[in-house]
Amino acid sequence: MPKVTFIEKDGNHKEVDAPLGLSLMEISHKHGIDIEGACGGCLSCATCHVSVEPKWFDKLEAIEEDEEDMLDMAFDLTKTSRLCCQIIMSEELDGITVALPEAPKDW
Ligand code: FES
Repeated sequence: MPKVTFIEKDGNHKEVDAPLGLSLMEISHKHGIDIEGACGGCLSCATCHVSVEPKWFDKLEAIEEDEEDMLDMAFDLTKTSRLCCQIIMSEELDGITVALPEAPKDW
């Protein structure tokens, strides 16, 4: 089973199972990670904002304009910010690490 690591606000690194085809937002909900995802993944909120560890950033699908517009409303933006409802788990992303807003990051 592929894995994803979420860095939580208190700095805890939580590695969880990440079934292929699910978004990181859906995966976070399965494991009780504190990501709201208010719009259910339809790109009309920014409550699923995460910062992606830079070495993984280029492996993601390119960001679309709608996502960029919505990201402008997120807080604690970084150069590798994404909305995690738009990151769909694939074999290539096995091991990806993302940080919640305000979480301490090592990058
Ligand atoms: Fe609303 Fe991702 S859950 S944009």
